[in-house]
Parts: sequence; C-alpha cells; structure tokens
Amino acid sequence: MLPTIEYSLSYAPPLGAERDALSALCHTPDARWHERMDHAEFVVTALHEGTRVGLGIVHTSVTAPTQVERPLELGGMFVHPAYRRLGIRQHMADARLTYALSMGGTPITVIDNRNEASWSYYERSSKWTPEQEYTGWFTGLPMTIWVATESSWYRTRMGMDPLVPAQPNVVLPPAQPLVLGPDQGNAVSA
Ligand SMILES: CC(C)(COP(=O)(O)OP(=O)(O)OC[C@H]1O[C@@H](n2cnc3c(N)ncnc32)[C@H](O)[C@@H]1OP(=O)(O)O)[C@@H](O)C(=O)NCCC(=O)NCCS
Repeated sequence: MLPTIEYSLSYAPPLGAERDALSALCHTPDARWHERMDHAEFVVTALHEGTRVGLGIVHTSVTAPTQVERPLELGGMFVHPAYRRLGIRQHMADARLTYALSMGGTPITVIDNRNEASWSYYERSSKWTPEQEYTGWFTGLPMTIWVATESSWYRTRMGMDPLVPAQPNVVLPPAQPLVLGPDQGNAVSA
C-alpha cells in the first residue's frame, strides 16, 4: 500500500531544530545549502507519519546568470530514497511554482544537465522551458536555467499577455505547525 504523505508549508527560513532536521534529509548540507535556506521565502515539507521525508524551497539567493526579472529560485529539492517515484517531488514542485507565481516573481530552477531524474521531469513539463545553459561555478559542468512558462517575464517575451498574479497566499493554505510523533523530531536520514 502506498504511504499517505502530508505536506506542511512555511513562509520563513527554517531555523534552529527545524533547520537541523531538514538538513539531515540532505546528503550534503554545505554552505550553499544554508545560504539558500537563509533566503527561503517558502518551504514545503513532505511528511510520512510525522517524519520528514521530502523538502523543497523557494529562495532569493540566486547565483546563476539568469536574465529574468525578479527571479525566485525553486531549489533545495530532496526526497528520501525510500520515498522516491511516488509523486512527492511532483507535488512539492507544483506547490513551489504556485507560490512563486502568486508572488509576481519569475520562477526559475537550475538543473545539473547530468541529473536525469530532474531533467526528464522539467523537459516533459509544459510549465517549464530552458532559459539558458551555463557552466557551473563550482563543478565546471553544464547547468541549465529553466524558467516558468506562466511567468509574466516569459509570456511577455513570447508576445502573450501576462497572467494576473494571484494575491500572495490566496491559493495556498496558511502555514500549519508541524505535528510530529513522540520520537519523530528528526528526518529519516538519507
Ligand atoms: C529528483 C527527486 C527530487 C525526484 O523525487 P521523486 O519524488 O522521486 O519524483 P516524482 O516521484 O515526483 O517523479 C515525477 C517524475 O519525474 C521523473 N523521474 C523521477 N525520478 C526519476 C529518475 N530517477 N529517473 C528518471 N526519471 C525520473 C519521472 O518521469 C517521474 O514520473 P514517474 O514516476 O511516473 O515515471 C529525487 O530523486 C531526489 O531527491 N534526488 C536527489 C536530489 C536531487 O537530485 N534533487 C533535485 C536537484 S535539481
């Protein structure tokens, strides 16, 4: 039977014990990870029976050489290996995109060209299109910036009328405090 996954939303950078628990999900919570977390405006956390099993954020710490206006980067995506291919990323990615569009920014995401799991997802989605390829600062390998096709920046460039952005948080429920089980204060370790 498929696990029942719940999603928690937050609109502020995770701090303290919550930051630690989310970092425990990730393989390499390095300085760049924390920089993105420090600039998080939206955090979606996937939970299975109160334990954190997935994470995605929207942040403003953009280092990729994007040309878009008011970029809001969708990043920090991670799903615990035991919970992959269940549609969790799909759900969290949709929530991030809805939030970023509702804020009137231009949603972008940066994908390492070698990341098959991400590339295949963005390539087949009509909601995303490549903006440009560049060489990663640290890796020296090809990276691609993808931009949301529903963004005003993209639609205007394509000669289409911009969509009226929703008011912030209208389309999303308010943040709920995490309710964790007695021994589930931490994420499932990756
Ligand atoms: C990438 C990642 C977030 C995907 O999470 P997920 O919850 O398993 O993804 P979903 O179940 O929502 O997958 C949706 C679709 O993406 C594609 N996809 C997902 N994983 C894939 C893989 N390993 N190979 C090829 N396609 C993949 C499939 O089309 C999938 O649909 P399907 O299962 O019906 O075929 C997860 O593999 C992960 O955490 N990887 C390590 C960290 C990482 O790479 N993060 C992204 C950085 S940009």
